[in-house]
Amino acid sequence: MLRRFRPYLHYLRAVRGPLTGAVFCGLVYGAANGAGLPLMVKWVFPRVFSAGAVPLTAWALILVALWTPAVFLVRGIAGYLNSYLIQLAGVRVLEALRLDYFRKLQFLPLSFIARQTTGDLISRGLSDANQLQFTLTSVANDGLKQPASLIGSLAFLGWMAFHEKGVALVLVCMAVIPLCVFPIRYVGKKLLLRAQQIQGQLGSVTDRFSENLSAAKEVRAFGLEEHEVGRFAVESRRLITFQMKAAKYAQALTPAIEIISAVGISFTFLYAYREHVQLDSFLAILTALYTSYEPIKKLGALNNELKRGLGALDRLEVVLNEPLTITDPANPVAVGRLRGDVAFEQVTFAYKPGEPVLHGLSASIPAGTVCALVGPSGAGKTTFANLVPRFYEATEGRVAIDGHDVRSMRLADLRRNIAVVSQDPVLFNESIYNNLLLGRPDATREEVVTAAIDAHADEFIRTMPKGYETMVGERGALLSGGQKQRLALARAFLRNAPILILDEATSALDSQSEQFIQEALRKLVVGKTVLIIAHRFSTIRDASMILVFDRGQVVATGTHAELYAASPLYKSLYDRQHGAA
Ligand SMILES: Nc1ncnc2c1ncn2[C@@H]1O[C@H](COP(=O)(O)OP(=O)(O)O)[C@@H](O)[C@H]1O
Ligand SMILES: [Mg+2]
Repeated sequence: MLRRFRPYLHYLRAVRGPLTGAVFCGLVYGAANGAGLPLMVKWVFPRVFSAGAVPLTAWALILVALWTPAVFLVRGIAGYLNSYLIQLAGVRVLEALRLDYFRKLQFLPLSFIARQTTGDLISRGLSDANQLQFTLTSVANDGLKQPASLIGSLAFLGWMAFHEKGVALVLVCMAVIPLCVFPIRYVGKKLLLRAQQIQGQLGSVTDRFSENLSAAKEVRAFGLEEHEVGRFAVESRRLITFQMKAAKYAQALTPAIEIISAVGISFTFLYAYREHVQLDSFLAILTALYTSYEPIKKLGALNNELKRGLGALDRLEVVLNEPLTITDPANPVAVGRLRGDVAFEQVTFAYKPGEPVLHGLSASIPAGTVCALVGPSGAGKTTFANLVPRFYEATEGRVAIDGHDVRSMRLADLRRNIAVVSQDPVLFNESIYNNLLLGRPDATREEVVTAAIDAHADEFIRTMPKGYETMVGERGALLSGGQKQRLALARAFLRNAPILILDEATSALDSQSEQFIQEALRKLVVGKTVLIIAHRFSTIRDASMILVFDRGQVVATGTHAELYAASPLYKSLYDRQHGAA
């Protein structure tokens, strides 16, 4: 079982200092606890209770007075430092672990992210990482401290046995210790399953939160308030049920060990009675026994902790061990600024294995072309556009830019050459200015403002009280759909990439704004390859090339005039819009 944690022990290396200090203090604590207390019973008691036969010397009196507070002082300080340093090491481990998890999320393919739920991914990164750090530091701490404490107590018992001729007595008491292994193992086994259920259910509860909050408007519009509370209550109750099932076993461990110890102690009583063992020896042995059961109890709890950690590890590894399928090639071709010749060669693509949504599709878009993608919804236009920046990878065939397979370039080189505006653009919870700057972090203020003017965003930005310093809210929630789209366009313009992908990027604009942006585009796109997915034919008509999509295939290619004459699908789509208008 410990082998499973080995790949993660490197997290402990960075906190060697505090951890070593913690373990040292732990050993001191163990010594003070395991040997100091029994010694107190052994030395102090007889001197105090020796029926006044021999008056104590001044030194002995001082020893009697100071021994107990000294043991507790050392134990207290060492225990305190041990806990503090373990916490310190723990939070550092957690930080590193959480950061690695978050970093991994940045590089995983979109297909993986789409398969998971947000809440569950959050819960893994927070609560499972938390659990794992707790386990790692517990193992690092108690894994040494408790056995050392146990050895200390046993050594004292051995010493007592040797000096007091109570060998048999000690052996009688210790015979019970191995029995403790049974409840420890049994509880551990039960707990592993429970731990996984709890962590999984925590994910579901987080999911309910994140989905519900992102649908705040729908909940009110459809009157789903009580319905949502009901769904949440169900998940919440299941979490409690799992937690109580785990508690049932975990909490049973300590009493089980204590009862076994009590049986051992009662045997000791009987034996001590028969053999006429002295009270002070007997008390010392009893104390040492008690302090040796303590580490056993703690080791049992540590075993539980390991099981909980295993559960968390399994869930973290779903992300940490997920292969990065979309990565830089081993020997990337060196590319600077691309010209922007986009070619699809016999491309088949499936989101789910066996269910292709693009079927052996070929298309060639020369550099500097404004190319419109047209077709019924679900025909595969967005999917087609997603393959160019390698958001997804062609299942068969290849996508090439300037003759280079997109898989032969470094991802950063490829994506630097592409600007994307998606249908539902997301802004970060920052100022407008900072959001625009993400398009090209080294842009000057003038360039940022120019891009905003071209995207017809400057006009509304200036009317805001804080202008470019206005905060946009989470995902841009404080702005209208049209405003968000204009900022997303400005962000893309600022990027000044040779390939521009606009996926329904103007759908939220009124037709007049769209026309303004059309004009701006005409000026901006000179020499650039533009893939534009749009509904309004006023936008499409101007394109120098149009690809007509239907059920995952390009069924016709040409200009507006050519297609209107030659493609029945194109003609019907066009006529339908104009008939409606
Ligand atoms: N992430 C996804 N996972 C599975 N199927 C998807 C995903 N995205 C889109 N699809 C499916 O792929 C097909 C093409 O979708 P899409 O390219 O978005 O169409 P369009 O942009 O032309 O409306 C649709 O049948 C859609 O259901
Ligand atoms: Mg689409």
